[in-house]
Amino acid sequence: MLAEKAMGGVSELAATAIAERTGVPQHRVAVVLGSGWQEAAAVIGEPSTSIPMSEVPGFGSPTAQGHQGTIHSVTVGDSPVLLLMGRQHLYEGHEPSKVVHNVRTALAAGARTVLLTNAAGGIRDGLSVGEPVLISDHINLTGRTPIEGANFVDLVDAWDPELRSLAREIDPSLTEGVYAGLTGPQYETPAEIRMLRTIGADLVGMSTVLEAIACREGGAKVLGISLVTNLAAGVTGQHLSHAEVLAEGHAAAPRLGKLLRGVLERL
Ligand code: HPA
Repeated sequence: MLAEKAMGGVSELAATAIAERTGVPQHRVAVVLGSGWQEAAAVIGEPSTSIPMSEVPGFGSPTAQGHQGTIHSVTVGDSPVLLLMGRQHLYEGHEPSKVVHNVRTALAAGARTVLLTNAAGGIRDGLSVGEPVLISDHINLTGRTPIEGANFVDLVDAWDPELRSLAREIDPSLTEGVYAGLTGPQYETPAEIRMLRTIGADLVGMSTVLEAIACREGGAKVLGISLVTNLAAGVTGQHLSHAEVLAEGHAAAPRLGKLLRGVLERL
């Protein structure tokens, strides 16, 4: 109980620091930009304030390559939006409470809608590299949870159906898929990918599921979008690399930015 209160306290402190630094008392919407999504931020808009995560309580700097480690406040339409440029992962050695500190801070800063983005390997036949896919559901294979205690959070429609419809209004070519979240940092073996396919996963990655759970615990709506940066292990004979993930993000940035901006304008 004490630990829970302490973490809650850090999110409150972080939200207060963001409100002070940005001069914006409440950000109703937050976007977490993961691997491959950093450049899309420029299309969303010019930040009115940028704060290094290392200067906000509880954050620290992300170590994953290609994660900028900055928090931007950007006005879209009339609404201030928090852009969290990079995230912390279990594979960096962080506890779940640290991994979800970003979204708990966003909730404490007033967010009722959270957009979670990531890079993923495509498992389902027909997915193409460079394609954004709406997350329709997830399979949490990390063995971890950000929730402490007997708090039985409902995850039916965890990935908000109305927000997915909204995204499809902007880009009718978007498909949906089930995201399997693993801890990494090693990529999967071809045998693991065959198993994931069998249990119903369309996409695989190393983030996002714990953040979605924390958002639902806090009552915020969640929209998730994966950028397929590679086909998963064994789907082709190719080897996988993080450089490829970043390169695909670079190539897809204009499309991803336009999609995010379109969604944000309609919220
Ligand atoms: N596996 C796990 N995580 C990933 C992948 C992958 O193939 N691509 C991007 N993130």
